[in-house]
Amino acid sequence: MEAVSRVAVVGLGYWGPNLARNFDELGELAWLCDLDDGLRSRFAERYPHARTTADFAEVLADDDVDGVVLSTPVPTHYPLAKQALQAGKHVLVEKPPAMHAAEAEELVAIAEERELVLMPGHLLLYHPAVHKLKELVDSGELGEVLCVYGNRQNLGKIRKDENALWSLGVHDLSVILYLLDEEPTEAIAHGRDFLTQGVEDVVFCYLRFPSGKIAHMHLSWLDPNKMRKITVVGRDKMAVFDDMELEHKVTIYDKAPESAPTSYGEWRTRTGDRFSPKIPNDEPLKLECQAFVALMRGEGDARATARDGLAVVRTLEQLQGSLAGVPA
Ligand SMILES: NC(=O)c1ccc[n+]([C@@H]2O[C@H](COP(=O)([O-])OP(=O)(O)OC[C@H]3O[C@@H](n4cnc5c(N)ncnc54)[C@H](O)[C@@H]3O)[C@@H](O)[C@H]2O)c1
Repeated sequence: MEAVSRVAVVGLGYWGPNLARNFDELGELAWLCDLDDGLRSRFAERYPHARTTADFAEVLADDDVDGVVLSTPVPTHYPLAKQALQAGKHVLVEKPPAMHAAEAEELVAIAEERELVLMPGHLLLYHPAVHKLKELVDSGELGEVLCVYGNRQNLGKIRKDENALWSLGVHDLSVILYLLDEEPTEAIAHGRDFLTQGVEDVVFCYLRFPSGKIAHMHLSWLDPNKMRKITVVGRDKMAVFDDMELEHKVTIYDKAPESAPTSYGEWRTRTGDRFSPKIPNDEPLKLECQAFVALMRGEGDARATARDGLAVVRTLEQLQGSLAGVPA
């Protein structure tokens, strides 16, 4: 594949180095940008062919840069993404792309008007196991899908500037909207800020969709178990994606209720085989970076990608409103 795009990675804290590594492996890395001198010099040593700067404007002024990858703190996403789009750059912005639906809408509008890519870093949408779930849903293998729920819990990194809904929920929500292919009409969240005032560390969400399907998310960093799980319940079969499993990432359960032939209105349960399909071992972040490069080259549906990011922010905002007691 001819390398025509050149990428700048902005933000080299915890997550940015993973993006820099992948774009370097793809032969696309041109710039590294961070406010922190120590981080810049550390990564300049690792990637000597990339230019470094603390000044975002310098990256935007380089006509050879096609794409900007933002891995900076969440409140900076909207202003930096807007500047980049206005400078004519394609943007891959870490999740969530903005903190308000109106900001995300503005970014989508600029991207569409200027025919630029605006891709949210919804990592799980590039996970081969999520693609398998989507295949199971779309092919009808599970029967009519009734409900989906996500568990994302861990006594892990306790964040002070983002609550569990925005930090963790963005992952499950992107998958739920992708699997069901509709936006909820009802989105309610309940939670508590046990550790840091105003930052909910335990959140339970309920979503109801126009088709009648429902979804739930349990998001928390106060939990004895590390769970990264998405369950899809169909009328005929059920499927679970467990990202803590090394090998059996997806399990399909051939079990369901069925009506008893002898008595009208009674249900009995059917339990059949349990099956784990082979899931490719590709690194989801590598696939995400490849997808960004492909979109920049005009392959794939850039508009749909940007709009999917907007739908996630819109639903997060609805959930946040209900968490704060603001009527929808
Ligand atoms: N997809 C995932 O699984 C995943 C995992 C972790 C983090 N993230 C996302 O990655 C993003 C970054 O998170 P993090 O944990 O790496 O944060 P971090 O605080 O560790 O790093 C952010 C970096 O951005 C730099 N920065 C801030 N403002 C800047 C500016 N204007 N110009 C240049 N550099 C600037 C800071 O100096 C810092 O080094 C967040 O959006 C987070 O949600 C995604």
